Amino acid sequence: MENKIPKHIAIIMDGNGRWAKKRGLPRTAGHKQGAETIRKIAIACNDRQIKVLTVYAFSTENWKRPEEEVDYLCKLPKFFFQRYMAELKKNNIQVRFLGEIERFPKETQNVILTAAEETKQNTGLILCLAVNYGGRREIVLAAKQYAKDVLEEKASQDLDEQTFASYLMSKDMPDVDVMIRTSGELRLSNFLLWQNAYAEFIFTDTAWPDFDESELDKAITEYQARDRRYGGLK
Ligand code: FPP
Repeated sequence: MENKIPKHIAIIMDGNGRWAKKRGLPRTAGHKQGAETIRKIAIACNDRQIKVLTVYAFSTENWKRPEEEVDYLCKLPKFFFQRYMAELKKNNIQVRFLGEIERFPKETQNVILTAAEETKQNTGLILCLAVNYGGRREIVLAAKQYAKDVLEEKASQDLDEQTFASYLMSKDMPDVDVMIRTSGELRLSNFLLWQNAYAEFIFTDTAWPDFDESELDKAITEYQARDRRYGGLK
């Protein structure tokens, strides 16, 4: 029974900069290769019948990086979808986003919204890109909207977890089963705080641009070997 395929895998794609530096390349080359890895791992997750893959592409803290790097990261969605949209569609992959995209340049927003719109009927893997996303921010926005709904008598004051979850950006998505962080860092970095409540955490020293199908399978096998008790006994 525990040999189950995880429904939702979330990944903190760390180590792009270090990968590039090791090769004498600019940091942006690491992000470019990282985008290629997203494509590869999305196809692999789809082949393995995983329902959702959420990747942390841009955090609310990433605006603090040098302007040149931020500019490049803002342009990556365009590059990514121009290059891979046909393949994502062929594989029946649905694209979604988590985060406040309004802060991105108009062109980036359009690319993102178009990718979601053009794939919304697809029934395969949901590839969810977290962009300008922060877990605390998501919870605060949900709390604000809930309070507003209570004041306007659109919601009951008797709040439960399921109702609160429906106010999050991730509404309609299952909780995270496996949380992977690459490149040796052992932190959650404000990623999916609510949704990771019962996730199994898997860390690898591999830098994100080098992450591949065999690393993914290793993570799935490790997840299957873990004893998930959700606080109970077995
Ligand atoms: C962390 O590595 C990675 C990021 C902050 C950006 C991740 C983005 C991508 C992989 C591409 C996004 C693509 C699309 C299509 C949205 P780091 O730069 O912090 O690495 P370091 O710790 O080695 O410096």
